[in-house]
Amino acid sequence: MTDEPLLRVNSLSKFYGSRVGCENISFDLWPGEVLAVVGESGSGKTTLLNCLSTRLMPTSGAVSYRMRDGVFRDLYRMSEAERRFLMRTDWGFVHQNPADGLRMTVSAGANVGERLMAVGDRHYGNIRATAVDWLSRVEIAEDRIDDEPRAFSGGMRQRLQIARNLVTGPRLVFMDEPTGGLDVSVQARLLDLLRGLVTDLGLAAIVVTHDLAVARLLSQRMMVMKDGHVVETGLTDRVLDDPRAPYTQLLVSSILQV
Ligand SMILES: Nc1ncnc2c1ncn2[C@@H]1O[C@H](COP(=O)(O)OP(=O)(O)O)[C@@H](O)[C@H]1O
Ligand SMILES: [Mg+2]
Repeated sequence: MTDEPLLRVNSLSKFYGSRVGCENISFDLWPGEVLAVVGESGSGKTTLLNCLSTRLMPTSGAVSYRMRDGVFRDLYRMSEAERRFLMRTDWGFVHQNPADGLRMTVSAGANVGERLMAVGDRHYGNIRATAVDWLSRVEIAEDRIDDEPRAFSGGMRQRLQIARNLVTGPRLVFMDEPTGGLDVSVQARLLDLLRGLVTDLGLAAIVVTHDLAVARLLSQRMMVMKDGHVVETGLTDRVLDDPRAPYTQLLVSSILQV
C-alpha cells in the first residue's frame, strides 16, 4: 500500500450556462478504494463523473492523478493525446448502456482484444487467450467469443463491457449506474461479479448510482449529492446506518423517490 491518494479532487465545479452541474467538490480517492456517489436524478452525479474522467471539462477546479511513475499530473493540463492514453490503459469507464462502451458490430473477442492491442500487445495467440480468459471471468462461454455483442442479452453485454475495461489491468475505473439498465435478478448477479472482480484486482473505483443497495455492496466510502453539492460523505456503513444530513436521512428512509 502507498500512503498517497490516487486522485486528488480540488474545488471542482461545472456549470452549464447559469445552471449548476456540480459545485465545489473536493475529495481524495485512495488506491483500492471504491467510492459511491449517490443522489437522486439531476443531483450532478454524471456531471461529476464525466469531469473526473475528463470526458467533460470543468468550469473551475483541479484534479490530479498519480501516474504509475508516482508523479501527480493535473488532468486538465494534459494534452488530449495523454488523456486518451490514460483512458485506454490506466482507466476504465463502464457506461450504464453497454452499447456506449462496446463496439456492437465487432466480435466479443475483438472487443476485449482491442484494449490489449491499445497497450501494445501484438501477439494474436496471446490476445485470443487473454480474451478467452476474461470472457470466462465474466461468465461468458468461450463459444460466444466470435459473436457480436448485439446478439447478447443486456446482462451479457454489461459483463462484456466490464471485461473490455478490466483486461488492461486499469488502476481506476469509473462506473455510471453500471447495473441501472438491467432486470433486478440480473442486477444482483452482476453486482456480485463486479464486487468479486474489484476485490480480486484491488481496483479503485468511483461508482455513480441512485441505488443505495449498490453503494452498500460495492463501496467503502460514499458521497451523497443534492442539487450539484455534496451534502454528506463518510464510510458507507456509517452513512447508511447513521445518516447525519437531513437529506441523507430522507434518502435512506426511502421517503424520497430516487
Ligand atoms: N449537457 C447539459 N446541458 C445543460 N444542463 C445539463 C447538461 N447535463 C446535465 N445538466 C444539468 O445538470 C444537472 C446535473 O445533471 P446530471 O449530472 O446529469 O445529474 P445525475 O447524473 O445525478 O442525474 C441537472 O440539473 C441537469 O439538468
Ligand atoms: Mg446520471
